[in-house]
Amino acid sequence: MALKNSNPTKTEAWSALTNHFNNVQNSNIKDLYKDNNRQKDFSIQFDDLVVDFSKNRITKETINLLVNLAKEVDLKDAIEKQFNGEIINVTEGRAVLHTALRSNSDEPVLIDGKNIKPKIQSALRKIKSFSNKVISGKWKGYTGKSITDVVNIGIGGSDLGPDMVVESLQYYKNQLTTHFVSNVDGDHVSEIIKKLNPETTLFVIVSKTFTTQETISNAETIKNWFLKSATIFDIPKHFVAVSTNLEAVDSFGIDKNNVFPMWNWVGGRFSLWSAVGLSISLSVGFDNYRALLDGAEEMDLHYRNEDFENNIPVVLALLSIWYNNFYGAETEAVLPYSQYLKKLPDYLQQAIMESNGKGVDRNGDKIDYQTGTIVWGSTGTNMQHAFMQLVHQGTKLIPCDFIGFKESLYGLTDHHKKLMANYYGQMDALAFGKTKEEAHLELKFSGNEAKINQLLPFKVFEGNRPSNAILFDKLTPKSLGKLIALYEHKIYTQGILWNIYSYDQFGVELGKELAKKLLNKQ
Ligand code: F6P
Repeated sequence: MALKNSNPTKTEAWSALTNHFNNVQNSNIKDLYKDNNRQKDFSIQFDDLVVDFSKNRITKETINLLVNLAKEVDLKDAIEKQFNGEIINVTEGRAVLHTALRSNSDEPVLIDGKNIKPKIQSALRKIKSFSNKVISGKWKGYTGKSITDVVNIGIGGSDLGPDMVVESLQYYKNQLTTHFVSNVDGDHVSEIIKKLNPETTLFVIVSKTFTTQETISNAETIKNWFLKSATIFDIPKHFVAVSTNLEAVDSFGIDKNNVFPMWNWVGGRFSLWSAVGLSISLSVGFDNYRALLDGAEEMDLHYRNEDFENNIPVVLALLSIWYNNFYGAETEAVLPYSQYLKKLPDYLQQAIMESNGKGVDRNGDKIDYQTGTIVWGSTGTNMQHAFMQLVHQGTKLIPCDFIGFKESLYGLTDHHKKLMANYYGQMDALAFGKTKEEAHLELKFSGNEAKINQLLPFKVFEGNRPSNAILFDKLTPKSLGKLIALYEHKIYTQGILWNIYSYDQFGVELGKELAKKLLNKQ
């Protein structure tokens, strides 16, 4: 059975939300905060994670009405269909089962009547045994030396996920140095090659299709460089591939024992949970990789089973729709207060914008309401000294997710106190601002009395700028898995509400085709 197909703006819930918006659009977070229970009422605790969404322009009624919208478009049924492996990626005729990749349950998931769980388990065993061999030094290069460097060659989902996770889990990393080559810009691959010794480097070519121009060009360049010092018989010791296209992998010259599987029921941007994550397992060890998957599975269960009111991905998706479709906000900022997560915004840009950047609904009709939020961001506190001016005092409404961790990994408590003071300080500043009166007093006491009238307008902070606090106890493989899965489910929820297909990406094709044509003309 297909996904329910309804224009959200024609639902009863949407009309109710529109009326509600007309009544509350001028409400102010500062006033709403006069309710002492607000923080408690607008927070969801889920094990080591608490999401505080009290600093939003919402009342309990807003949440109820948004939840009604989710119910009216039958989100529950859509979630079940995804987890059960129905063909919800209709335009490509595929199921969407990244959740099955991290599932620990024995419950079968069927594709064409066949349970896919055994295949997943066997791929995980292969990842584990290969990672163990390389990390322990038992896997030898062509001159008998152990591997010191791993190069992931891929782009888009075959690069951003593994790269972001390896960067984020640096603290848990082993002795191997991991590199990522993605851009077809030859200077990228050249800079990486410069750092490598062919005798001790392992290349992981990751491409679901194995036809992607960038990846194949980089892989060929690297193979040619490798063959300057080694022979084709040495390739099996240094090249492995992750792909669905076994023929192309074979003609590239990769040993069939060195091929890790990919499946067409896993979308590229949701694939780090498959063998696409091999470089993660090589970099932090299989146990940490498994913990990442376990954290994601915990979020899957929460998403699948929790009531919408207490369901973190659903609530965050609904809030995002509230700002995008009612307040007309165009962008959202993701602001991790951890330098480890500096690549998270880039990763989320693909996940979110390649998924929900659609202008045609599930009927194939042009949409006349806003979809796909633009997502961007950077780490705190660095971004406070960069773009936050615009978020605090600019003319645009930019809802922000502040991601934080109660504990730091190295335990420099003085630094962590400062970091977290900034984390909370920014959210308070955005929400509550600084009034004219407060700014006036400040100017008076800072010896600027003469210039008060001149400076006053520039010193005022309007406030009423929304944010969510997404706070974990600690950055671990498990909490990172949870965080990534949270955003994955937020994406799907929004796609369902906007009545679009989140799992295709035809919009990336035309540019590729034209580039190919231009190349052929040269
Ligand atoms: O740019 C489009 C895209 O298909 C992404 O969705 C995907 O992650 C990326 O290209 C890489 O594709 P592949 O893994 O097939 O090389």
